[in-house]
Amino acid sequence: MRTQPNAAIRAIFSRRSVGKLIVPGPSEAELITILRAGAAAPDHKLTRPFWFVVFEGKSREEFGTVLAEALTSRLAEKGIEPTNGQVGKEQAKLMRAPLVIAVAAVRSEEISLPDQEIISAAAAAAQNMLLAATSLGYGSIWRTGEAAYDPKVKAALGIKEADFIIGFLYFGSITEGLAPEPHDPDISAIASSWEG
Ligand SMILES: Cc1cc2nc3c(=O)[nH]c(=O)nc-3n(C[C@H](O)[C@H](O)[C@H](O)COP(=O)(O)O)c2cc1C
Repeated sequence: MRTQPNAAIRAIFSRRSVGKLIVPGPSEAELITILRAGAAAPDHKLTRPFWFVVFEGKSREEFGTVLAEALTSRLAEKGIEPTNGQVGKEQAKLMRAPLVIAVAAVRSEEISLPDQEIISAAAAAAQNMLLAATSLGYGSIWRTGEAAYDPKVKAALGIKEADFIIGFLYFGSITEGLAPEPHDPDISAIASSWEG
């Protein structure tokens, strides 16, 4: 029996959400490793229901314009005009980290699966990416928010309205001294042996 947790187990427990992520972000080679980790997730019937969109540098700001316009439309439907502060905040969202990857679950045209199964596979891909980044020494956070359900945002990512944005994964370095404590979970309330 192992007495020391291996690297994968250590990454699982040390992965924590970090809201403030700074440069440097993952290098291009590390980005490929993170994407490949995502693509290595399990999926039912090998439909590969994954769609990853990478934002670095200027594309984060450009996609911010999409997010701001989408917010403006959502509020307009409710007869509300956004404040400059709301628009500015939405516009700047992807600037909160040097690297952002949008993860979507997309349907196969040939093989029909319940939504749950493509969402589960894409969520596993997202978690694989977070764990890969943790192993590489980077901080991360999985975010959704209203934009993740907005058809205009989905269209801008190149997916259909019926597909799902699983999340926007933010990656970057953690400010020295601000790394959160690793998880120390209590499983007593959520796990049990089946007794019939
Ligand atoms: C589907 C999903 C959506 C999330 N959306 C947000 C979000 O919009 N904003 C945010 O700050 N954190 C978000 N999180 C991160 C959770 O807040 C975080 O995982 C949780 O507080 C547990 O903390 P940990 O990640 O450090 O274990 C999301 C996590 C998941 C799985």
